[in-house]
Amino acid sequence: MTVPPLQPAGLRCAHRVNPLGVDPDRVRLSWELQGAGTGRLQRGYQVLVTGERGGPAWDSGVVESSSSIDIAYAGSPLARGGRYEWQVRVWDERQAPSEWSSPAWFEVELDPASGWHGSWIGLGRIRENFSPPSEPGPPDAVAKALTPVPYLRRSFVLGQPARSVVSARLYVTALGLYEARLNGSRVGDAVLAPGWTDYAQRVAYQTYDVTGLLRDGENVLGALLADGWYSGFVGFDAKRAGAHYGTAPELLAQLVIGFADGTGQRVATDSGWRGRFGAIRHADLLMGERHDLAREPGGWDTAGFDAAGWRDVRCRERDARRLVADPGPPVRVTQEISPQSIERDAEGRHVADFGQNLPGWLKISVDGPTGHSVRVRHGEVLAEDGSLYTANLRTARQTDEFAAPGGAATFEPRFTLHGFRFAEITGYPGEPGPGDITACVAHSDTPASGSFECSEPWLSQLFSTIDWGQRGNFISVPTDCPQRDERLGWLGDAQIFARTACYNRDVAAFFDKWLDDVADAQLDSGAFTDIAPRPPALDWAGAPAWGDAGVIVPWTLYKMYGDRGILQRHFASMTAWMEYVERGNPDYLRTRELGNSYNDWLAPGDDDTPPELLATAYWAHDAALMAEIAEAIGRPDEARGYEALRAKIGAAFAGAFVSADGRVASGTQTAYVLALHMELIPCELREAAARELVEAIRRADWHLTTGFVGVGYLLPVLSSNGYTSLAYRLLGQRSRPSWRYMIDHGATTIWERWDGWTSEHGFAPPTMNSFNHYSLGAVGEWLYRFVLGIEPDPGSAGFGRLLLRPHPGEQLSWAAGAYHSVRGPISTRWQLSGGSFEFAAELPPNVTASVRIPSSEPGEVRDVRGHPPADIADFPGASGIREAVFEVGSGTHQFSGPSMTDVH
Ligand code: BGC
Repeated sequence: MTVPPLQPAGLRCAHRVNPLGVDPDRVRLSWELQGAGTGRLQRGYQVLVTGERGGPAWDSGVVESSSSIDIAYAGSPLARGGRYEWQVRVWDERQAPSEWSSPAWFEVELDPASGWHGSWIGLGRIRENFSPPSEPGPPDAVAKALTPVPYLRRSFVLGQPARSVVSARLYVTALGLYEARLNGSRVGDAVLAPGWTDYAQRVAYQTYDVTGLLRDGENVLGALLADGWYSGFVGFDAKRAGAHYGTAPELLAQLVIGFADGTGQRVATDSGWRGRFGAIRHADLLMGERHDLAREPGGWDTAGFDAAGWRDVRCRERDARRLVADPGPPVRVTQEISPQSIERDAEGRHVADFGQNLPGWLKISVDGPTGHSVRVRHGEVLAEDGSLYTANLRTARQTDEFAAPGGAATFEPRFTLHGFRFAEITGYPGEPGPGDITACVAHSDTPASGSFECSEPWLSQLFSTIDWGQRGNFISVPTDCPQRDERLGWLGDAQIFARTACYNRDVAAFFDKWLDDVADAQLDSGAFTDIAPRPPALDWAGAPAWGDAGVIVPWTLYKMYGDRGILQRHFASMTAWMEYVERGNPDYLRTRELGNSYNDWLAPGDDDTPPELLATAYWAHDAALMAEIAEAIGRPDEARGYEALRAKIGAAFAGAFVSADGRVASGTQTAYVLALHMELIPCELREAAARELVEAIRRADWHLTTGFVGVGYLLPVLSSNGYTSLAYRLLGQRSRPSWRYMIDHGATTIWERWDGWTSEHGFAPPTMNSFNHYSLGAVGEWLYRFVLGIEPDPGSAGFGRLLLRPHPGEQLSWAAGAYHSVRGPISTRWQLSGGSFEFAAELPPNVTASVRIPSSEPGEVRDVRGHPPADIADFPGASGIREAVFEVGSGTHQFSGPSMTDVH
């Protein structure tokens, strides 16, 4: 039987499929390979990129390489605004060429200066000396500070018949949020665009293909404009709220039309636009929206509309802000959910339960008299008396209101986002029928890349809870929570969760964008800030485990996606960070410049981990990662320098915090976990230190005591040191603090605190008690890497080479799951029954793996054809565990043998 050649598919540029706007320096190409059979490998490739008129821009020639990801464009300079098509073909292990792939394409970002023609436009006067209430006060009082949403329009005549249009692109952004309209249609499906950046430095824009939306004669381009992160409420600083970057939103847009005869037409934002206020009386991310639907100027965005009475717009020349094509995915509505139940409360209000804590809003259909008003409040949980619990929202109002236009109508807010599972609806006329009330789930559109199932339903629920926490908080930037008056891009949270996030969803482009925010926020001193984007008044910086995200997140992306471009782009800012820390700590113990030092944030009980220990461990970790990063981007001298730095910090750490018997100062679980994970314990003391960690867990009556910083490493460290059953025991622990306690008490997203709600005390104090924070969900990475065993080989990046090392535990009889890597889908499944262990794995072409099966009798493990292992090895983390080793490539593989009897 002849095996067909490998075929490239799933082509991507800058981690996206056919991006409409890409920075020319980020054009890095990748593809997946398809082809049946086992052990399939790519031996070479050829990439062909052609420009606008079919002229070749780059022919890589035949490159002998197994690389199918992170191929940097190396052709002639890319034209700004240009469109390029590309294809690839590959040679497989038999040196047979594939067909050329189906074509993919990308369009290059506009020149930041000469590519733009419009001006910033807005409506009404810019609020001077805006002063929102200095005290939070009742949420409704804050709503007084909110202003109506401008409707902006420009009518123009298409220079040629619509059938002559060969391309039309709308480039659009806002200082604030926009919704673009063309001839009565909404342009694209992004919401909360253009997303959050440090608007003073960098503004992202979106590019839409609107070729099909133009018509003969008069056309109307329009936009709605809202405050969003730019001039609306964000964060908890009431004095600055509502005016972080500016005091009124502005729009910038240009429509570029190309006709078949090679001529073009351009329509840009300028003084020719007209505006007025309409149905949306206010719109704010935290506070919510109010619509008076009878005031909607019907047909305002279509030809023939009489715009008499519309006002001149405010017009301002473009300034030095950088306009960049958004490198990240847009926020979109990704799902609609019907209520599980709708109850009437004693006051006659409807309370809808969606069964899931989610980010988004409600879409409501009503049939009521003109002006009839309906109010929707959103909350994550219900109080004991069944009413909506909103105390934990602090000053975030999370309330939408609308006045009916008369007759049947559907209401849906556009520029707000609520974190909720329950909605309380006041004034709904009659009883809602099926489909009248729907929750729209909105977040950065990062497609799922991981899955996990197992024999314990509660653990499958934990997996879903972790993923929903991610969906709830990846809203243009990785935020801490989607409901209260905060919603900030905390670096610590992002760093702790980054690995889990990458397994759950394709977040390469999302984090690529956010790392620009991190770099923009960095202080001149080199300190990475605690929050990015950084609202101008907040310059908190340098906190251990928060600032360190500036090194850890790029490295994590490199390991997961193989992208060296990200490392190159941020190498200078990472270096500045390393210099900043070293300047403050010349004796290699990080005791100074600790900023706000959140330490092991929200560790249950007393957080006794010494801040200098935690800080120094992270610094050592940074140095080790920097050495790897420098090596990966061809900077061997710097790599050696960071190795030397790592050695000095390691020695200082061991001297200050590790005693001769392997104990680590303070004895907290987090202290052990950090020291072991970051390899700060001398080799000969590792086993002793691991035993001390177990002892610390036993002292806590077999509970964890880790906060944000220790939590993600806890189970990986236990498994890596031979204590997998203890890891399972902590995972399954029913009494708090534990993950299972959350699940048993109804969590559908991960709580901020281990004691967010307790049977003894009810809710934790509302000043800081979110039910949707992802950090404690960092345990997700253990499910993929250890339970399923889908782990990249430590020396590799981008999943070209794996260590398939499942860690079964008696608590589960089976587990199965998958991860869609940059090279294609990887899946594993195992089963434990009657003393035997069966393991199956499937790998895509061009991926190899060392399969490691733990067994009491590794010599008896067999693959499906009865072959014995290629090797038998001692598990590197603990004496007494032995593994059967098999070498595999692409295809489906199965193994079985005696299961391991637990040694600990
Ligand atoms: C946020 C956290 C954040 C922390 C800093 C909190 O208010 O919600 O998630 O990391 O502050 O310690």
